[in-house]
Amino acid sequence: MLVLGIESSCDETGAAIVKDGRYLLANVVASQTEIHERYGGVVPEVASRQQLAAILPVIETALQQAHCRWEDIEAVAATYGPGLAGSLLVGLTVGKTLALARDLPFLGVNHLEAHIYANWLRQAPDTDLQTDASETESAYLPGDPLFPLICLVVSGAHSELVLMRDHTDYLLLGRTRDDAAGEAFDKVARILGLGYPGGPAIQRAARLAEEELRQQRLPVRNPYRLPRAWLRGTYDFSFSGLKTAMLHLAEGLVADQQPGRPLPSGGRQVSRYTTMGSEAARRGQVHIGLLAAGFQEAIVDVLAVKTRMAAQEYHVRQVLLAGGVAANVALRARLEEELTPLGIRLQYPPIEFCTDNAAMVAAAAFFHRLHGEQHDLDLDVEPNLSL
Ligand code: KG4
Ligand code: ZN
Repeated sequence: MLVLGIESSCDETGAAIVKDGRYLLANVVASQTEIHERYGGVVPEVASRQQLAAILPVIETALQQAHCRWEDIEAVAATYGPGLAGSLLVGLTVGKTLALARDLPFLGVNHLEAHIYANWLRQAPDTDLQTDASETESAYLPGDPLFPLICLVVSGAHSELVLMRDHTDYLLLGRTRDDAAGEAFDKVARILGLGYPGGPAIQRAARLAEEELRQQRLPVRNPYRLPRAWLRGTYDFSFSGLKTAMLHLAEGLVADQQPGRPLPSGGRQVSRYTTMGSEAARRGQVHIGLLAAGFQEAIVDVLAVKTRMAAQEYHVRQVLLAGGVAANVALRARLEEELTPLGIRLQYPPIEFCTDNAAMVAAAAFFHRLHGEQHDLDLDVEPNLSL
């Protein structure tokens, strides 16, 4: 079964064609990151306008890339929430319209569920569309994640720990009480003057600072020990205290380096280092990098330990990572460290399928379609949709 997936929940416009919920025939993403970089975050009105400009070319390109005709497509799926209302509306409306025009079943997909299903994606062995459907049109194939499993969904807007007992069956164990993990990365990157999106910027700054210490044969020990909110007895998360601690540390850092100057009101000021002499600037960058590393370590610590505890409590043999923050190398390594000694397998999607894309939307839709599900065409966007 070939599904055309459409994703437009935030600032990425995606179209993809996926066979049997797993095999990638085409995956096209138009990103607006460069536009929003100027503002230090996503501007909703700008995002929806860009979605509108990109959506049709992206779908056309996906069809060309897959070498398939409309007649080959058996269902159309689009994200209907959670996300930015204006952005969601573009992909959902186009998806429903295409389904109506082509007389195809339409499926609205939950964006969080799509992130989880990125773990089922793999390269197609060949682009032969004619293979016997009974061979691959199945809910369980070798190489698929094994149920029951625990999934940590960490994106720009969500941090959720989920028990998945079977396809499309979710039990929410915990969620963030304030900032999402990705949001914390983005806000802290802003405090440190590292730019947007924050996750990759923090990861890079932390790595460069640690390399610098290694080069100078200094111990790679982080002087910044940041607070962790464990919220014991629950699987909920909280990252706002960590963010505030970062703000205070960043202010103190500028004050230390520039005695006599008043404390800056916002963390953005830390980037003033770049205007100093080259040696001071370099030292400043190392400090910022170590702060970034301390922050990353704190957030990764809490995510990894709570995920491991959930995996133990529910006796699962497999843990999945999903969402933009799943691209974080430190998080993957730390989780591996927690889970491998227990014989629990960790799986995460390749980096391009961690952040927003439409292939994951098509994958999630396939497993709903297997049960004959479809949505009416009056389905509306749900910006606050949960799992
Ligand atoms: O899933 P996603 O593309 O969009 C949402 O559904 O929100 O996630 C975007 C988030 C951003 O907050 C971004 O900073 C974060 O994922 N992110 C990362 C990394 N790459 C992206 N966070 C930490 N480390 C990364 N390498
Ligand atoms: Zn996402």
